[in-house]
Amino acid sequence: MDLTRRPRRLRGDGVRGLVSETSLDASDLVAPIFVDATTEERVPIESMPGHERVPISEAVARVEEVLATGVEAVLVFGIPESKDERGSRAWAQDGVVQEAVRRISAETDAYVITDVCLCEYTDHGHCGVLASEARERWEGGAHDGDGDGLTVKNDETLDLLARTAVSHVEAGADMVAPSAMSDGQVGAIREALDDAGHENVPVMAYAVKYASAFYGPFRDAADGAPAFGDRRHYQMDPANRREAMRMAARDAEEGADVLMVKPALPYLDVVADVRREFDHPVAAYNVSGEYAMLQAAGEMGWLDVTESAYESVLSIKRAGADLIITYFAEDIAAALE
Ligand code: PBG
Repeated sequence: MDLTRRPRRLRGDGVRGLVSETSLDASDLVAPIFVDATTEERVPIESMPGHERVPISEAVARVEEVLATGVEAVLVFGIPESKDERGSRAWAQDGVVQEAVRRISAETDAYVITDVCLCEYTDHGHCGVLASEARERWEGGAHDGDGDGLTVKNDETLDLLARTAVSHVEAGADMVAPSAMSDGQVGAIREALDDAGHENVPVMAYAVKYASAFYGPFRDAADGAPAFGDRRHYQMDPANRREAMRMAARDAEEGADVLMVKPALPYLDVVADVRREFDHPVAAYNVSGEYAMLQAAGEMGWLDVTESAYESVLSIKRAGADLIITYFAEDIAAALE
């Protein structure tokens, strides 16, 4: 054997780090947190071991735990004390996210991002205003959606999302992240923020959001499962890769500052595409199901959670994400220390 090419030469300790192409840093990571107005105590989230819903009184303490690991940004989700037809607690001044964010921004240095959606706030669990025919069908006992795009009214939802975003920013949010998949949501929010004098607050668009089974544990965590039907008439078809480019381009035109792809691991091709086609920062959301499956395998003793989580999040970075929203943020940052 006379091998001139021996890639193993660069794999030894000492040189391995020098030739490494990708690295993770705590400053790349965003930690989602759940604030729950229905509880006075922390409640473990069964489907997401290691995560809890915290009461408003513990929101600052929860964020301090995140900051102590080196992670500097949080994505805040709220579970309101009550739900109604239009999700009015989403934009209430004394709503759960508003109250929590007011405290977090006053008492910590965290960079605070809020998820802007209505599904945790509506009694039907959909991400926008329900068509009256859909409501009648649901109240009549139907459990299927109509699937024809008419269950959630797109245009009527925009103003509610815009109001919600403005209320989050007025409470102190540094960035808003609309996730309702209403057409025009980024533009509506941008305009409302500008009109209210918040032209410097960036919008991170859930630009490419698929209708994914991997959101299962989150719906449990944030109590936002649709009471009937599903989200396929507003979230994207997992079969579609080219459509992702149209979604990202549309949100970029409407003024999105950061373009997100969600979920992350089953869609790394899409993360790479968005990275290649756009100059914007790209975010990827390593969602609840991606977290839960590693935790479950870890509990069975089938894999090492810390190592497989690191490898997963590194792969999302390698595919082209600049920032990664992950339930592993704290674990990974602590391991990087
Ligand atoms: C709200 C929202 C969801 C997630 C983030 N924002 C649920 C959904 O769209 O069904 C999912 C996050 C996760 O699974 O970790 N619309």
